Amino acid sequence: MRDALIILSLAGALASCATPQPAPPQPMSPAAERGLQFAVRSCAGCHAVDSAGHSANAVAPPFASVRMRHTAIGLERSLAQISREGHGEMPPIYMTAAEMADLVAYIESLEPIAEAPAPATQVRTAGL
Ligand code: HEC
Repeated sequence: MRDALIILSLAGALASCATPQPAPPQPMSPAAERGLQFAVRSCAGCHAVDSAGHSANAVAPPFASVRMRHTAIGLERSLAQISREGHGEMPPIYMTAAEMADLVAYIESLEPIAEAPAPATQVRTAGL
């Protein structure tokens, strides 16, 4: 009887090993989470702000492409410029330093996606 119990509990232990648990999704950092909230409120009107989808404004690059184009530092500078004077066809949108840091954390957390080659008019990003 004792042996049977041992075998049963061993079988149970083996069964729980045999069914691998799916890896939990990577939790977003609190900063990235705030960045997402801010992006949904302030940027999603023109940009696709998550990994999928197309921007509402065809000229506005999806954030996952922005992620592909920029290093974190370049992104910070680009956001600072956007906050002051806009960017090309993008109007200035005031952001605090904390909001920019959150946005950088969020955009850096995205899976980068490639985008169609930029038209020649977008060469203004040079130097960033
Ligand atoms: C009214 C529409 C609109 C809104 C709202 C908007 N954008 Fe844009 N954004 C654009 C357009 C259009 C471009 C492409 C500009 C160009 O290259 O001429 C752009 C470009 C960008 C770029 C690319 C700049 C680069 O250096 O490659 C970044 C980054 C960006 N936007 C961030 C943001 C963030 C962050 C927000 C929210 C705070 C935001 N945008 C809200 C229209 C918008």
